[in-house]
Amino acid sequence: MPSDELDPARPDATEPGENEPGEVVLVAMVAANGVIGDGTDQPWHLREDLRRFKRLTTGHPLVMGRATYDAIGRLLPGRETVVLTLDREWSTEGAHVAHDVEEALRVAAGLPGGESVMVLGGGQIYAAVMPRATRLELTEVDAPAEGEVRFPEVDPSTWTEVSRDDRAAFAFVTYRRVDGT
Ligand SMILES: NC(=O)c1ccc[n+]([C@@H]2O[C@H](COP(=O)([O-])OP(=O)(O)OC[C@H]3O[C@@H](n4cnc5c(N)ncnc54)[C@H](OP(=O)(O)O)[C@@H]3O)[C@@H](O)[C@H]2O)c1
Repeated sequence: MPSDELDPARPDATEPGENEPGEVVLVAMVAANGVIGDGTDQPWHLREDLRRFKRLTTGHPLVMGRATYDAIGRLLPGRETVVLTLDREWSTEGAHVAHDVEEALRVAAGLPGGESVMVLGGGQIYAAVMPRATRLELTEVDAPAEGEVRFPEVDPSTWTEVSRDDRAAFAFVTYRRVDGT
């Protein structure tokens, strides 16, 4: 949402509050070899995946790393954005900024739709948030991709597949924690 649409009466959501998200969802497109990108872009842009991405994320706050924010290059409509950066000087109009994972999740939880926080990557952020994730929404592509940036291992002793929607050359797969948390 552009900054001029933010409710000025609401407390400054960039201040960490008491909020805890109910769900922390990692949303990613992952190649068969675990690659998610080359550092500047993701390997594929698939129309069906973009449609699913929009359906999953609209109405919920997004958490992303500063590199992924730069790669997207704009705010996504209908969703507030929390950008993670270690740079205390960094800011961008219309986005919230956090400097560690817990702060990002608290800020996001306090935003509209914050009962489910959508984490959009990239590699550093998926790895950092994985221990706090409650659900994984992965687009698993059958083919390998070139690139250095990878999704963290989905350990079957921690994660169980709860749904799979097979399409041509990829599948939409949902994982939840084995222990139900
Ligand atoms: N396939 C997919 O679904 C998907 C999704 C998203 C992104 N990608 C791809 O992933 C690649 C980008 O991933 P990446 O790993 O290079 O970068 P990233 O995770 O998007 O962002 C890394 C940046 O986040 C900040 N950061 C990292 N850990 C932090 C922490 N614990 N606390 C606060 N800030 C933290 C740092 O920003 P500062 O340097 O500003 O301090 C760091 O440089 C691109 O190729 C992109 O296209 C793929």
